[in-house]
Amino acid sequence: ENGKLADRYGRVATDLRVSLTDRCNLRCTYCMPAEGLDWLPSEELLTNDEIVRLVSVAVRLLGVDGVRFTGGEPIVRRGLVEIVAGVAALEPRPKIAMTTNGIGLARLAGPLRSAGLDRINVSLDTLRPDRFVTLARRDRLPDVLAGMAAAASAGLTPVKVNAVLMRGVNEDEAASLLSWCLERGYELRFIEQMPLDAQHGWRRDTMITADEILERLSEKFSLTPEPSSSRGSAPAERFVVNGGPGTVGIIASVTRPFCGDCDRVRLTADGQVRNCLFARDESDLRTALRAGASDAELAVRWRAAVAGKQAGHGIDDPTFLQPTRPMSAIGG
Ligand code: GTP
Ligand code: 5AD
Ligand code: SF4
Repeated sequence: ENGKLADRYGRVATDLRVSLTDRCNLRCTYCMPAEGLDWLPSEELLTNDEIVRLVSVAVRLLGVDGVRFTGGEPIVRRGLVEIVAGVAALEPRPKIAMTTNGIGLARLAGPLRSAGLDRINVSLDTLRPDRFVTLARRDRLPDVLAGMAAAASAGLTPVKVNAVLMRGVNEDEAASLLSWCLERGYELRFIEQMPLDAQHGWRRDTMITADEILERLSEKFSLTPEPSSSRGSAPAERFVVNGGPGTVGIIASVTRPFCGDCDRVRLTADGQVRNCLFARDESDLRTALRAGASDAELAVRWRAAVAGKQAGHGIDDPTFLQPTRPMSAIGG
């Protein structure tokens, strides 16, 4: 039986985000504590073949047409290139993207491109090496920048750059990040920070908002909103900078939620379907998969998991509770 991943609010999930690992080679302060987290035990992680099998159910039976690999940091996952190749061999072939911190891309951009990866988003919150060390607790800025350049020359384009601005940390870098990205043809997006950090340190009143970012950028650049009709379900609102062709995006998850247009569904590294970043519960596909479930049976479970998706993240509700899994274990 064929049937898409629809929920009771009329949304259809066509974009699958697959977390390949909860581990990371950085320790960004807004994401993880210095000592790391309690990593998932290896027997609970989906194997490379199990990942490709579940993605195949999603694209063949459930109407998913785009797959994005996330982490933790997907590049630290052994078998990444093989997983990408496995997904690229599926019929119908989905669009394949990855969100990464960029470390290791200098070596892997070519092989990933050859395996079938279409494009890449790289996280970059600062261009200052000293600040990078403070923020990510590792001295790896040169690796990140080399990775981005390698991605661009390998054709993993457009290279999109994700920046989270934090008060008193890197808020003064909005304009310099934008100039730097424009010069290189990278598409920068500023992201409002969401309450998903492992340390529960997020505060609504200190968060840097989309309005504030736009105000800062407007001091240095002329920004013209792209027509909202061209946005579709993309989380970023885009602005043409100085008449073009460069653009800048704002992902205002908190102050301008786009949940009503959400087309995403997530699979965690341990084989749980999450229908929302902020879901309170998950649906276990791994156990069914390992018990020998057929593709059709897995599809039925997956549809049921998405059918129960909540209307929105509810960050502004007085009763809001942060999800138990942090961002790094959900996969952004
Ligand atoms: P593109 O298709 O390249 O625009 O991908 P993307 O921006 O959706 O993906 P990326 O992984 O780069 O995510 C950028 C930011 O958007 C991250 O902070 C994500 O957590 C956030 N984001 C991605 N998907 C969702 C979502 O479903 N809901 C919310 N609220 N934020 C999301
Ligand atoms: N809120 C918003 N974005 C976040 N990211 C990590 N933690 C958060 C958060 N709490 C960003 C990363 C990366 C992307 C996957 O999500 O910087 O670019
Ligand atoms: Fe790792 Fe990404 Fe979290 Fe940074 S934001 S610690 S790169 S998972």
